[in-house]
Amino acid sequence: MKRKKLRIDRILYCLIFFILLIFLIKFSINFTYNLILFNGVKKNEIITINKSEVKVWKKTVNYIHENMENVTIKHKKNYITISSNDFKNGLKLDTKIYNKTINEKIFSNQKTYYIENNELIKKSSKLKIKVPRYLYKHNYVDIYVKNKNGYELYEKSLKVTDKYVLFKTNKKYDSYYICYIYLDNISSSSKVNVNVNEEKKLKITLNPTNPTSKELVYEYDKKIISFENNTIKGLKKGSTNLVIKSKNDKTKAIVNVVVKEKTKSVSKEKEEVKEEKYETTVKDGITYVDGIMIVNKTYSLPKSYNPGGLTEEFMDAFYEMQSAARLDNVDLFVASGFRSYEYQVDLYDKYVSEDGKDAADRYSARPGYSEHQTGLAADINAADSSFEDTPEAIWLDENCYKYGFIIRFPKGKEEYTGYKYEPWHLRYVGKDIASKIHNAGKNISLEEYYGLESKYKD
Ligand code: DAL
Ligand code: ZN
Repeated sequence: MKRKKLRIDRILYCLIFFILLIFLIKFSINFTYNLILFNGVKKNEIITINKSEVKVWKKTVNYIHENMENVTIKHKKNYITISSNDFKNGLKLDTKIYNKTINEKIFSNQKTYYIENNELIKKSSKLKIKVPRYLYKHNYVDIYVKNKNGYELYEKSLKVTDKYVLFKTNKKYDSYYICYIYLDNISSSSKVNVNVNEEKKLKITLNPTNPTSKELVYEYDKKIISFENNTIKGLKKGSTNLVIKSKNDKTKAIVNVVVKEKTKSVSKEKEEVKEEKYETTVKDGITYVDGIMIVNKTYSLPKSYNPGGLTEEFMDAFYEMQSAARLDNVDLFVASGFRSYEYQVDLYDKYVSEDGKDAADRYSARPGYSEHQTGLAADINAADSSFEDTPEAIWLDENCYKYGFIIRFPKGKEEYTGYKYEPWHLRYVGKDIASKIHNAGKNISLEEYYGLESKYKD
């Protein structure tokens, strides 16, 4: 009985001892921070405090109020400047910063660094925030704030210096969003016809409309055109690609500009290329005109582009066409469908070794320039000249457009497509566009229809 009593006493003593110890530790930590704060404040230094809540001594608060305009505290690598009037006892140093992809349209669903609903930030007058690599690798960032109506731009193109961004805060806001919004694509007309000395304004659309960097650079043949304030001026008869590139992001648009000598002739000849405003966009290194993927000697695909085979849309359309052909006793099959970049390397090299580069370039695409890499093109039945004039070739020529296909390299159109006639090479573009191209005239190539170039740079 006596022994048991003794044990309870011991436990009680231990408990009291621990409570006192914790109290003492807390007190001494608070004391130490206060000492640091007081000494720092007296020396007018930046004070490093990594504790989240400090009960500041009254004498420190008084000293600050009487002698200082503001105090800067370094907390978890960030610098928070607080005006002396806002510096109070019991200051909560809570700077929770989030590093997330925000699913908001305004940020184009991109990763954003942000501080939200923060009392301390609301008290601050200036912030110097250390940002992560995905932001400091850019020279500039944007800052957004959140208010009742949503997000609004607060600071545009704020310079990033030594991994930090520094900005003045506003008492109205307790949340700040630091982001770099990439320019995803640039859209413009795919083709512009202009006469010598004539000027034409070019409409350029950026997507998203609020990229951090809107800076564009332009490349074109300065002998053929001039380009200023989004206006093209024809200087000399000829054609040039006006390449519109983002200065800081990886996107561009290509506008084919044809400059003509103004003629007095009233009759509009057929050869006059119809000027249509088709939108060109470049996304992930791939060019789309009027929404369709363009691959030829001018427009290449990234090496890594690999849909893994003929696409579902190609196959669905092909099966529909195959069934219809069968009713006319025409048997169609895919002889060569999807070809990867690597496959095209071997194929092209083989042709070059057999026939030489110049000859090979007239019937085989270089790696990265073949439509077979898109998964939207295939050679039907036989990829050689014996296919010409067969019932299958004639049937395809007359009917393929009904199923969304075009004969991609029509007869006599090498100067436009860059390739000799290939009655077997079908490209899927969808029923709508295939019909429009079919109705535009006999053997109209995709290049003629959209006014595109197909030429290797070298
Ligand atoms: N024969 C076509 C041009 C290709 O190689 O893609
Ligand atoms: Zn082919």
